[in-house]
Amino acid sequence: MNTIPQLQVALDYISLPPALVMAALVAPEVDIIEIGTPLCKAAGLEAISAMREICPDKLILADFKTPDVGGLEANMAFDAGADMITVIGGAATATVKEAYAVARDRGKIMMMELTGVRDIVARANEWRRIGIDRIVYHREWDAQSAGREWEESDKTTIRQLIDMGYKVTITGGLTIDLIPYFADLSPSVLICGRSIREAPDPRASARQIRLAIADIWGGSSSSPTTSFHTTSPTISPTTEVAAKAVRWGVSEMGLMLTVDGRDCPGCNASDRFCRDSRTDIRIPSGVNSQQFIRQLIANMGPGESQAVGTDAPGSFYLDVGSLSQINEKSVLGLLSATSVALQEVGQPTNTRAAMSAAHDILSE
Ligand code: 5RP
Repeated sequence: MNTIPQLQVALDYISLPPALVMAALVAPEVDIIEIGTPLCKAAGLEAISAMREICPDKLILADFKTPDVGGLEANMAFDAGADMITVIGGAATATVKEAYAVARDRGKIMMMELTGVRDIVARANEWRRIGIDRIVYHREWDAQSAGREWEESDKTTIRQLIDMGYKVTITGGLTIDLIPYFADLSPSVLICGRSIREAPDPRASARQIRLAIADIWGGSSSSPTTSFHTTSPTISPTTEVAAKAVRWGVSEMGLMLTVDGRDCPGCNASDRFCRDSRTDIRIPSGVNSQQFIRQLIANMGPGESQAVGTDAPGSFYLDVGSLSQINEKSVLGLLSATSVALQEVGQPTNTRAAMSAAHDILSE
């Protein structure tokens, strides 16, 4: 039996585009992608289905922390593409049973989330009798901000839960330095959110954490499966390469550039048509231009909206030269913001294909 804990990245964002970019960046290094509770609230089921599209072969957890209506919420999450959901520990036993029954009948996973639960072992005993065998042991964000540290008493409780037959997920401000603290336990999953997302190089951070886990608990340190892209390091592409990545990305979305490229000798030719940091793109017919541009600007991160806009009817532009930094994350961010905006105005696009094409260009 494989006893190496899985690594789960928590995407606690308040909008979808940056979450999709982060998922695309770190997916090769993690086992489970968590749609964090704030993202579930901000983007709902669209976050689950978009994440499924970006990471078709990853386990996807919707951290609903469901308090009631357990069966309905479980079905909603699974219908949208999630593999796993959480139910808050304070929920009524009926809610726990409903959510568990749906997960069991559909071959999915339902986990109890211990946030706020005081009588952990007593409640965990009740849930075991229902059949539940997955539990999330959580040092909550706010408790952590108020100074709560991990303690031996936490480990004692986690050990009790494992002895009761639970597969335990540990979460709450885990960093690469904190992980060895749990070396004498056998957790099933370790969640890292901020320590990956807020690292200067999130993919490298996820990789280091994964290797640290492999080192502590033994076994292989090979990359988790991914169908998204390779594990090449994050690069800092030149403006030119970044613009090329955007052009290929938008083409994969099914969009047309405004330039007539029929006689263009190709993106790598010295006499190619597109030489600018800016890519001008036709707005698909049937799309409400104003609504689309508004959504696109809203989807760009703080301080990045100058990289998108419109100055001609029927078209918009993406300008990598106006990004505050040019790197894989910011370029994928432009594409993600565009794709999500199009979907928000009713135009289907293939976000995954776009990001994958851009990644390939950026890795050349
Ligand atoms: C907050 C959560 C977070 O997803 C969890 O705490 C992991 O994030 P981090 O590693 O940043 O603490 O569930 O309620």
